[in-house]
Amino acid sequence: MSKNKKLALYPGTFDPITNGHLDVIQRAVNLFDRVIVAITTNSSKAPLFSVNERLEMIENASNGLDNVEVESFQGLLMDYAVKKNATAIIRGLRAVSDFEYEFQMALVNRKLANGIATVFLMPHEKYTYLNSTIVREVAKFDGDVSSFVTEYVQDKLKSKFN
Ligand code: PNS
Repeated sequence: MSKNKKLALYPGTFDPITNGHLDVIQRAVNLFDRVIVAITTNSSKAPLFSVNERLEMIENASNGLDNVEVESFQGLLMDYAVKKNATAIIRGLRAVSDFEYEFQMALVNRKLANGIATVFLMPHEKYTYLNSTIVREVAKFDGDVSSFVTEYVQDKLKSKFN
């Protein structure tokens, strides 16, 4: 990619992708030339969906958004970001409760790769309560998740829990 094109990585577990994540992706696309949604493993979480399933769900949900790609990586985020020549890491910030963890992670990541900034984007406030854990929990007990995730993700959740 040419030097003056700005690439942002949006890393996360995305287990599964929610409408809140999609809102953040849309905001990132408006700021950067290219956005890579980067799926990885958070060592403190045991995911419901495989990396391939998560990749497929994000590809389906972001279909039609220009300049968005989906990848997965292993290892340190900042090693991957340096390899990709990324300008920034995107993280969504919903509420003050997210702040402490995100602040710590951003500072560690800056220590690991000083030139790459973490940019926090606030999703629409209607998504403040929303995260993948809540979606999995509601879907597990056959609750209605239609305002939380795309139809495609709803189907995947249904087949996972049936
Ligand atoms: O969606 P999540 O689970 O909040 O995302 C957290 C994630 C995956 C971005 C974070 O755990 C991560 O970057 N993992 C890769 C390994 C790494 O670089 N760890 C150091 C972070 S300070």
